[in-house]
Parts: sequence; C-alpha cells; structure tokens
Amino acid sequence: MALGTARPALPALLALIGALLPGLGGAQTSVHPLEAIIPRGGSVQVNCSTSCDHRPFLGLETQLTKKEVAQGDNWKIFELSGVQEDSTPICFSYCQAQTMVSMSLTVYLFPASEAQVRLELSGWNLHPTVTHNNDSLLATAHDKANMEEEGTQQLSCVVTLGHQSRSWQENVTIYSFPAPSLTLSEPEVSEQTVVTVECEAQAGALVMLSGGVPARLPGPRAQFQLNASAEDNGRIFFCSALLEVAGQVLHKNQTRELRVLYGPRLDKRDCLGNWTWQEGSQQTLTCQAWGNPVPELKCRRKGDNALLPIGDLRPVTREVAGTYLCQARSPRGEVTREVVVNVIYHRNYILTTILVTVAFTIGAAGLAAYFYNRQRKIQKYKLQKAQEAAAMKLNTPATPP
Ligand SMILES: *[C@@H]1O[C@H](CO)[C@@H](O)[C@H](O)[C@H]1NC(C)=O
Ligand SMILES: *[C@@H]1O[C@H](CO)[C@@H](O)[C@H](O)[C@H]1NC(C)=O
Ligand SMILES: *[C@@H]1O[C@H](CO)[C@@H](O)[C@H](O)[C@H]1NC(C)=O
Ligand SMILES: *[C@@H]1O[C@H](CO)[C@@H](O)[C@H](O)[C@H]1NC(C)=O
Ligand SMILES: *[C@@H]1O[C@H](CO)[C@@H](O)[C@H](O)[C@H]1NC(C)=O
Ligand SMILES: *[C@@H]1O[C@H](CO)[C@@H](O)[C@H](O)[C@H]1NC(C)=O
Repeated sequence: MALGTARPALPALLALIGALLPGLGGAQTSVHPLEAIIPRGGSVQVNCSTSCDHRPFLGLETQLTKKEVAQGDNWKIFELSGVQEDSTPICFSYCQAQTMVSMSLTVYLFPASEAQVRLELSGWNLHPTVTHNNDSLLATAHDKANMEEEGTQQLSCVVTLGHQSRSWQENVTIYSFPAPSLTLSEPEVSEQTVVTVECEAQAGALVMLSGGVPARLPGPRAQFQLNASAEDNGRIFFCSALLEVAGQVLHKNQTRELRVLYGPRLDKRDCLGNWTWQEGSQQTLTCQAWGNPVPELKCRRKGDNALLPIGDLRPVTREVAGTYLCQARSPRGEVTREVVVNVIYHRNYILTTILVTVAFTIGAAGLAAYFYNRQRKIQKYKLQKAQEAAAMKLNTPATPP
C-alpha cells in the first residue's frame, strides 16, 4: 500500500526542510522520467536518483500504489500501478540535507474505439462515418440536406461510452445557391450579328457580368449587347453571383463562350504577298488564312502550278521565285490573293562582272600587242627601204663632171 497514505504530512515537512536548507552539501535529487502520459489504470516505472554517494536515503512520495523494483548505490526504481488520475509524485533524498524533485503523471480519458457517436440535425439522425485515431475519433456525415429545411438548424453530436455521454450543439445554416444563369441569345453567330448576353441569379443574390463588358455595380440581373466581330470569336463571358448567408458572402460563377463565324480572310497581315530575298539567305515564309471554320489554303505558282513553300526556307533557292495565286476556301466562301517571291542571285552578278572584266582586259591587252607589233613592223620596213635607197645611190657610177 502507498507509503504516503499513511503519512500524508511527510512531503510537506520535507519540502519545508528542503526550502529552509537549500543546496546544503550540494547533492541533487533527480527523477526519470520528468513527465509521463499513461492510459487510465496503467503503470509506470520511475527512477529516483541523487548525486550524493554518501549512503543516501531515497524515497518516492505518492498516494499511488508503488513497489520498489530495483536499486543501486544512489538510485531506486519504483513502479506505480493502477493509475486512475493525474498526479505529481515527489522523489526525495536525504544526504546531508533534504532535496526533492517532482514529476508529472498524466492519465488519458478514453477507449475511443468503444464510443458510440450520434449526429442529429434538428432531431433527424444523420449517418456519420466514424474514424479513430489513437484516443480520438472523428465523425463525418455527408447526408443530403432537404431544401425545405433552409435556414438555421441545430446540429448536435452525442458521444456515449458505457453509461456516460457527452454532447455538443452548433447552429448550422442550410442554404440553396445555384450558379447564376448566363445566356447568349445565340452561342454561334455570323459576323455583325447583335448578340445579347444576360446573367441572372436567384432572388436575393446579386450578379456581376464581365468579359470585356463595361463594369457595373452588382445587381439582381445584368445584360449586355454586342455587335459580333471576328475578334469576338472565342470570347469568354463571365458572370459571378454573390449571396450573403449568415454573415458570410458566398460566390458562384458561370462562363459562356461566344463563337463567331467569319472569313475566310487572307489579307496583307496574314500573307505579305511580296517577298524579295537574297539567294542562300535563311527566311521564314508566313502565309496563313483565317476564319471560323478554319479555311483551307492553297498557293500555286502561275505557269507550272508548283506549291508555295510555306514555313522555313533554309536556304532560299532561286527555284522558289515566281508569282503564286493563293486561295483560301471555307464553307463561308473563298478569297484569292496574288503573292510574289523575288530571289536575288547576288553571287552571279559578281561572277559575271569578273568574267566581263577579265575578257575586257584580255581583249585590250591583245589589241595593244597587235598595234605595237604592227608599228614595229612598219618602222622596220621603212628603215629597210631607206637602206635600200642608200645602197642604190652608192652602186650607181658617178656621172662624169
Ligand atoms: C537510474 O538513474 C541513475 C542516474 O541517472 C542511473 O545511474 C541508473 O543507471 C538508472 N537506473 C536504471 C535501471 O536505469
Ligand atoms: C498515435 O499514437 C502513436 C503511439 O503512441 C504515436 O506514435 C502517433 O504519433 C499517434 N498519432 C497521432 C496522430 O497522434
Ligand atoms: C443558435 O441560434 C439560436 C437562435 O438563433 C441562439 O439562441 C443560440 O445561442 C445559438 N447557438 C449557438 C451555439 O450559437
Ligand atoms: C455591326 O458592325 C458593323 C461594322 O462595324 C456595321 O457595319 C453594322 O452596321 C453593325 N450592325 C449593327 C446592327 O449595328
Ligand atoms: C468560378 O467557380 C469555379 C467553380 O466553382 C471556381 O473554381 C473558380 O475559382 C471561380 N472563379 C472565380 C474567379 O471566382
Ligand atoms: C515588291 O517589292 C519590291 C521591293 O521591295 C518593289 O520594288 C515592288 O514594287 C513590289 N511589288 C509589288 C507588286 O508590290
């Protein structure tokens, strides 16, 4: 049986002595563990020790059932069992002076897996799913609320274990708030058709319409008209509804997409139509037809019907040069556009220039050599003639005086 039960005044007395004579002899009492959490009715072992090695007197002061289970020179192990509630046993030692230390023992409430849970909404039983986690439990109900029960209702949770039960009440507000209704007079229209966009929510809610629409303050209903153009194809209209329920603002929204039928379109923005490029350069030829439905595009060269090479031209070759006729066709019609690809043969000009220059130089040199030679021959001839004439004068016998 507990020692403390017999002598309840002892710890108080010891504490008083300890307080009056602090640190005498320098010995300290320790306890391990300092804190323990155990299930109700469980047991725990406590090690009381002291720094004094002078045949100390060691003890554990508690009202719990205790048993000495081991001991050393300056320590003792006690086992506390059948613990029903929280308590703070005190380890004490007496060396030259009395010192002590207390520990805390926490007992927990509750075999959770055996508890019964009942969830009620204004007296109606819900069907919760209960999950357990160690000594706690969680009950979750996904029952369908009846719309006739809109308003504030009381939710109660009752947990029963053995003959004991605990309950808790909360107020629950049940509301109905469908998404706003967002409508387009026609979801798919031809260009230049007037479309009406309208958003409406249930009574009590406010709506706001956006998507390129001028901003307005929220109202019970919002409406907007537009003259559909090609740029409106794929435009998204967005309507947000607000409802205040029990002091909270709730949001619901809705989107609609407008499809505009247009085209086919193939103008200068989509296909420039006049490209002038150097042969051998790296280019990208962009030519795209637009429309809803998407048109089919075909570009053929005048004369030989060769296809226009749309996309990367790496490198540009002189073979792609020419005038092409591009035709964009969709169920909504057909457009044609003439496009020209010019390719400059840059290197050939240089080559031709060099060849012409070389030919000219060779020709000029030849001509110069010819005239030079001819001149020399003429001079040689004239010299010969003069020599011949001189010789003839010498050979002629002198006329007697
Ligand atoms: C009890 O505590 C003392 C001091 O920390 C230690 O020396 C001793 O080994 C402990 N006893 C056991 C059985 O753990
Ligand atoms: C449940 O108890 C175990 C053992 O005591 C512990 O390791 C675990 O962390 C506990 N889980 C939670 C969620 O508290
Ligand atoms: C629930 O609502 C009622 C009436 O509105 C109020 O009297 C009560 O205090 C509320 N209970 C809680 C738990 O908020
Ligand atoms: C719609 O816009 C086009 C082009 O801006 C215009 O020609 C046409 O008259 C407009 N239609 C209406 C009904 O306003
Ligand atoms: C619109 O409603 C959807 C679904 O309720 C939600 O995921 C989204 O975040 C809302 N968008 C805005 C802008 O409130
Ligand atoms: C094409 O471009 C060239 C030079 O950029 C210009 O000289 C020519 O007139 C243009 N032709 C057409 C049909 O626009």
